Amino acid sequence: MSKIFVDACFGKETPYTPVWMMRQAGRYLPEYMEVRRRAGNFLNLCHAPDMAAEVTIQPVDLVGVDAAILFSDILVVPNEMGMKLDFLAGEGPVFEKPIVNEEDLNALAGGDEAASKLSYVYETIKILRAQLDARDDEKALIGFTGAPWTLATYMIEGQGTKTYNICKKMMYSNPALLHKILKKVTEVVKLYMEKQIESGIDVVQIFDSWAAAIEPSKYDEFSWSYMVEIAEYLKEKYPHIPVIMFPKGIPAFLDKVYGNFDVFGVDWSTPMALAKEKLGDRYVLQGNMEPCRLYSKEETTASVEELQAIMGGKRHIFNLGHGILPDVPVEHARHFVAECQRVSKNA
Ligand code: CP3
Repeated sequence: MSKIFVDACFGKETPYTPVWMMRQAGRYLPEYMEVRRRAGNFLNLCHAPDMAAEVTIQPVDLVGVDAAILFSDILVVPNEMGMKLDFLAGEGPVFEKPIVNEEDLNALAGGDEAASKLSYVYETIKILRAQLDARDDEKALIGFTGAPWTLATYMIEGQGTKTYNICKKMMYSNPALLHKILKKVTEVVKLYMEKQIESGIDVVQIFDSWAAAIEPSKYDEFSWSYMVEIAEYLKEKYPHIPVIMFPKGIPAFLDKVYGNFDVFGVDWSTPMALAKEKLGDRYVLQGNMEPCRLYSKEETTASVEELQAIMGGKRHIFNLGHGILPDVPVEHARHFVAECQRVSKNA
């Protein structure tokens, strides 16, 4: 059964342009908050396949998106490599003991040892595969990973950062160690995504949320080349599984984008027309409404119509240009999805 979302990722013509939202399963949905309460906390929820599957499906049923994205977090990977992780209320993720030197890195599990420990993710995917196959609405299931660079920022800083000074100090004063970290993470992620595919996902997305922290002339060396290595490893083995790359905030790198993958995720700071001009022939483009437009239905409609005018319903997937925020009214998210489907229907 061919799914409209998968067809769109490969640039095939579809009856309308499919839509989903980054971070679509989460706190803006009261139904999510209820399941999280039952789970006790966010990490417990990631570790409980039945509940993780339940919140994965919620935005499909409640908001009408064309694809479900696996409910998990990018940071379960370093967590299962052996780094103790907490999500502190109001502060976000914190690793107890960040990587400072090579001994710290060597103490972490790598390769298949780490990838195998993520069994609860594969279990969640298997439940979702069965649930989605039992429906007749052809919704796709997106699996994901963080890019090695974005994961490394948390592994080195220990938490979110505004300045990235600790990992950038490593980038400029001990690049060999940073490359060793990136390499080890890349090897785990390749196997992790392979196991996600074997468990039943339809599409892969690689999130490089902190791409913009790297100066453009260093971006390929410290991030993009590792993302491409992962994408090419997967495309070689699983050519029927589309790969979406989402490097956030790197318009200066658009001219240098290369690699074997299918969809380029355009963040909200990059003009869609520019992305189309630079990349539209080679990659399907995903995005890119400013997520804060969701606070106004009128601004949402205006953005959707503008994106439709630029892309013309061709080689495009509607999405936000980054994640939906927790205080967006559900009704507005529903409006966004309905507008994308409306404007593209008879394109
Ligand atoms: O709906 C979906 O998109 C699927 C689930 C998903 C989550 N995190 C759930 C989550 C996905 C795809 C992610 C990816 C993720 N996690 C990224 C990359 C995407 C992006 O937004 O750039 C990053 C950088 C993280 C790391 C992370 N996880 C941070 C910084 C935080 C705290 C900040 C925040 O948004 O609260 C998290 C927590 C997190 N991950 C939540 C959710 C629903 C909130 C936890 C809660 O319920 O309290």
